[in-house]
Amino acid sequence: MGDVQARMEAALARLLPATHAVPGRLHESMRYAVLEGGKRVRPLLCFAAGELTGAARERLEVAGAAVELIHAYSLVHDDMPCMDDDILRRGKPTVHVEFDQATALLAGDALQSLAFQLLSESRLADSPAAQLEMVKALAVASGSRGMAGGQAIDLASTGKPLTLPELEFMHVHKTGALIRAAVVLGARCGATLDAAGAESLDRYAKCVGLAFQVVDDVLDCDASTATLGKTAGKDAIQGKATYVSVMGIARAKEFAEELRVQAHAALAGFGERAGRLAQLADFIVLRKF
Ligand code: IPE
Ligand code: IPE
Ligand code: MG
Ligand code: MG
Ligand code: MG
Repeated sequence: MGDVQARMEAALARLLPATHAVPGRLHESMRYAVLEGGKRVRPLLCFAAGELTGAARERLEVAGAAVELIHAYSLVHDDMPCMDDDILRRGKPTVHVEFDQATALLAGDALQSLAFQLLSESRLADSPAAQLEMVKALAVASGSRGMAGGQAIDLASTGKPLTLPELEFMHVHKTGALIRAAVVLGARCGATLDAAGAESLDRYAKCVGLAFQVVDDVLDCDASTATLGKTAGKDAIQGKATYVSVMGIARAKEFAEELRVQAHAALAGFGERAGRLAQLADFIVLRKF
């Protein structure tokens, strides 16, 4: 993990616009939002899926960076006063606090555009058609049928009791979709999987995508602000619909564990090539931050 994280840090630093390029303040805020801090779970999943299909690391760096830029943009906007109104992210003041709201809005917009620029400006898949599918996968995962849609449901559900299917729908979209895209993009950088392999990998990705947000909900009430690098305990204060609010913390932890087992089961047919993916399922569920 340390190796991939270091490679990603260098790749992101290289791919983001320099602060001396005009408009310097916007570029500074983009770099601030992305660099230093962050577990880089999505690039890690991208690399692990690429290991399964024998993808070149140079391609995975770019694909992983594209997904991480969308993720960073989603966090910048998620923290704004019109959404979760948070002041702390990755142990630092949030972008709208450090800069201002207009800059935070534009930094998110520009990070999103940069993600698609990266996906389209260098060769990432063996055929143009496969690369176009990568662009589409990230677009769908980020948009109203993915992350942005999930975020809309999150805001509309605040203060309201949700049923379990409604909650799952929200989490699968706001967080699961982008995690699933990270896996799909990583795999696409290498050789094409057969239909059964692609289906198994997607089943794995759905499990870890949902598990990721279930664990995020658990940690919000179980961990400290110091370990999380973001304000703990806010979901309950803001009346957010979470797995903890709907099923209680003990059951939410059990559910995350069930998803971890299902994720491992989905990888069974791949053998050793899926070792990293299996380890990441463990990390996603067992993490403490
Ligand atoms: C936090 O994501 C927001 C969610 C989608 C749950 P991460 O926990 O991946 O945040 P960083 O990137 O490590 O800061
Ligand atoms: C955010 O979920 C999901 C995103 C798409 C950014 P949360 O609102 O729970 O994420 P945190 O807890 O602020 O990181
Ligand atoms: Mg939120
Ligand atoms: Mg939030
Ligand atoms: Mg949260």
